[in-house]
Amino acid sequence: MSNQNITLTDTAKLFISDKEYDLPITIGTENEVGIDISQLRNKSGAITFDSGYGNTGSCQSAITFIDGEKGILQYRGYPIEELAGKSNFIETSFLLIFGHLPNKKELERFQFQLTHHSLIHEDMKKFFEGFPPKAHPMGILSAMVSSLSAFYPEDGYNVDVELNIVRLLAKLKTIAAFSFKKSVGQPYIYPRNDLGYASDMIHMMFAVPSEAYEVPKVVEEALDLLLILHADHEQNCSTSTVRMVGSSEANLFASISAGICALWGPLHGGANQEVIQMLEKIKNDGGDYKKYIGLAKNKESKFKLMGFGHRVYKNFDPRAKILKASADRVLKELGVTDPLLDIAKNLEEIALKDDFFIERKLYPNVDFYSGIIYRAMGIPTNMFTVMFALGRLPGWIAQWKEMRETPGARIYRPRQIYIGDTKRPYIPLEKR
Ligand code: CMC
Repeated sequence: MSNQNITLTDTAKLFISDKEYDLPITIGTENEVGIDISQLRNKSGAITFDSGYGNTGSCQSAITFIDGEKGILQYRGYPIEELAGKSNFIETSFLLIFGHLPNKKELERFQFQLTHHSLIHEDMKKFFEGFPPKAHPMGILSAMVSSLSAFYPEDGYNVDVELNIVRLLAKLKTIAAFSFKKSVGQPYIYPRNDLGYASDMIHMMFAVPSEAYEVPKVVEEALDLLLILHADHEQNCSTSTVRMVGSSEANLFASISAGICALWGPLHGGANQEVIQMLEKIKNDGGDYKKYIGLAKNKESKFKLMGFGHRVYKNFDPRAKILKASADRVLKELGVTDPLLDIAKNLEEIALKDDFFIERKLYPNVDFYSGIIYRAMGIPTNMFTVMFALGRLPGWIAQWKEMRETPGARIYRPRQIYIGDTKRPYIPLEKR
């Protein structure tokens, strides 16, 4: 929330009992106002309490700007709508990580690097063999990314961070595709240097050694768009996890592996898988979507409309808007009719007119339509969150790098309000 009238010379005043404290103001380039409470505990003995961090700025960042009230999302100042229409995932990744749109030479170099680092060490294939066939690919993804640190260890401070960044970006799609092949029991398909990022990913997933496979253009373009839309989203659960782990100076691979685990949860990136499972449930239950709107409004049912609601967006999620249009286009071009798309649209239409959702400002989020596109592309449901991780990777890397490069960055260490037992004497076992 911005406020044009507040300037850096202003202070916030806090009264605790009869004492007054002046708190400095910090203002962002889009006029976002923050109250700097970093010295509050030293001065007053009190901390701020903000369960779920809904009101806490954990860092200053120059990467992504969101205005949730207006439905604005910008990477490095560029609106998401423009990037989605004019850029591609590799260029957007460069932009997020290095802070500017690459020139021709920079882009070619980056593309070359991402292509030529995409093989994973042959020994890593043995790890895949150890997982049971039904293992969720997100668990495999996280474990494999963490294990990259064994192959490319940070050598004290002499690490070539840029090289490890390139390696991670290049190899994550190979790891993701191999984890899919593992789950369907097919031989791994190696990355191909003549294919672009998105089409190489699709090729590694769907090609088989016995026949030629050409990636449909519409599928390649749809994946590229999805990756751009997921590429960063400022301080969400997984990104803050990456920063949290990285703040202890843990290496890049360990920090990103933790971010993958955080993304997996159904309230975050795992929601795209949950949306499709929910839509399938509604379809199998006779398609009575109104019943499920009723359930979502009834707190006792514990049922949530997955793919609805957002901590930050309180008007619309610009990514969902782009994806809704894309879902129509992709399904039409692929000649796919999916009854789940109709159920999703009906749910959205009813929810947007319903007081419960209007009052709480609940709108479809990025996960509401992405799953329908993934399905039309032939991607199985348990791979949806993996695709989200693939898209979010440049954002995680950019945030990790920014934190590492911030002079005086401190280890993340929140406080708490303790509500447990007060001091009491130990009771010996025989007396309990
Ligand atoms: N269905 C029904 N009610 C909801 C929903 C929903 N999807 N989302 C929020 N509410 C209600 C919630 O019960 C609460 O009602 P009340 O004020 O009466 O207690 C109110 O709306 C505010 O919700 P909240 O849980 O306090 O909001 P939050 O900011 O803590 O949580 C959220 C945000 C995204 C976790 C939540 O909206 C949700 O669980 N949505 C479904 C899961 C989902 O789609 N997640 C993907 C998020 S977008 C992708 C990403 O970036 O991760």
